[in-house]
Amino acid sequence: MKYKSVVVTKIGGPEVLRVMEKDLRPPLVGEARIKILASAVCQPDITVRNGKSLYSGTPLGHKVPFTPGYAIIGIVDAVGEGVTAVAVGDRVGALTVIGGYSEYLYWRGDLLIPVPTTLDPAEAVPLILNYIVAYQVLHRSAKVKNGDKVLIIGASGGIGTAFLQLGRLANLKMYGLASPSKHHVLASYGATPIDYHTQDFVEVIRQAEPDGLDAVFDGMMSMDSIKRALPLLRRGGKLVSYGEPAGLVTLFRVLLTLIMVNLLPNGKSFKFYGTSTYFLFDQKPYLEDWAELFKLLDQGKIKPIIAQKFPIEEAAKANALLESGQVTGNVVLVAPEGS
Ligand SMILES: NC(=O)c1ccc[n+]([C@@H]2O[C@H](COP(=O)([O-])OP(=O)(O)OC[C@H]3O[C@@H](n4cnc5c(N)ncnc54)[C@H](OP(=O)(O)O)[C@@H]3O)[C@@H](O)[C@H]2O)c1
Repeated sequence: MKYKSVVVTKIGGPEVLRVMEKDLRPPLVGEARIKILASAVCQPDITVRNGKSLYSGTPLGHKVPFTPGYAIIGIVDAVGEGVTAVAVGDRVGALTVIGGYSEYLYWRGDLLIPVPTTLDPAEAVPLILNYIVAYQVLHRSAKVKNGDKVLIIGASGGIGTAFLQLGRLANLKMYGLASPSKHHVLASYGATPIDYHTQDFVEVIRQAEPDGLDAVFDGMMSMDSIKRALPLLRRGGKLVSYGEPAGLVTLFRVLLTLIMVNLLPNGKSFKFYGTSTYFLFDQKPYLEDWAELFKLLDQGKIKPIIAQKFPIEEAAKANALLESGQVTGNVVLVAPEGS
């Protein structure tokens, strides 16, 4: 039997994504085979495809051909010898980093995330990446408190809208940078929108919050956003950058700034946040936080904004949409109903 998988055939735009057929084989020792129900379409899928990820062109980068797709939800449909953590029929998620744009996935049985069957897979799949980033930046990196005043740089995207929903639950006073066409979404979660194209966010926040902000969440990781955001923090304030830097030079400059900020006796702190690498070393906090996020979704306390769903084989169209910058929230690939 064959299954379909979307493959990056060469580095380039969405058009390089091609649907290919692969042989469905039994899982190897320690592996589970997962029938994918939903796959997230995320910014890191785009940067890895167009050769602009931090690792592109380095020995750590992915060599073409490869299947992108950072996060999935599916059903275990076969397990290899030695797999005890999951069984056939279990609903699971995986932080794949690559491999998610596919009808089937082979994955280590001990690295799967339990997912309640009550949840719609398309609604739950943004929790695997975009929401865990926002949740952990809020509650593990910045450790926000009731009433904290925060700025979200990149508030209308997949992670930004997760911040808005989780920030509202944590009772934060939120300011968010976004294009004007998306301001109504920020306002609907109680955030004050700022148009970063025409307004100087530094001026707006200085006037609104003369005592400074408790935290800034930065999805750009550019020297510009960081240099402008740091003076907005009050003493004891925290800047957390979770964006993907434009290249190694930017990363190096931002890293030097981080070291300096943390050494200076000004009471401010600056942290980086990155998901996937840490997950491999210590799964416990991730499993706890995903369980909490699934509970919040089940209780209707959060509801990912799904801008559009596409069949898995239309991943190129889904990538083009996310890359267009028109999306508010998340783009998701789904398996056909009843397949
Ligand atoms: N650390 C991690 O583990 C991790 C995981 C996943 C993703 N990421 C990174 O996090 C970043 C955000 O991801 P995402 O999924 O939220 O992306 P997304 O859904 O594409 O959203 C990007 C956002 O950036 C905003 N934006 C663009 N230029 C801006 C500027 N100059 N100033 C302020 N906002 C600007 C856009 O706003 P408008 O459309 O409103 O203009 C949009 O809301 C990316 O760099 C991604 O690679 C990190």
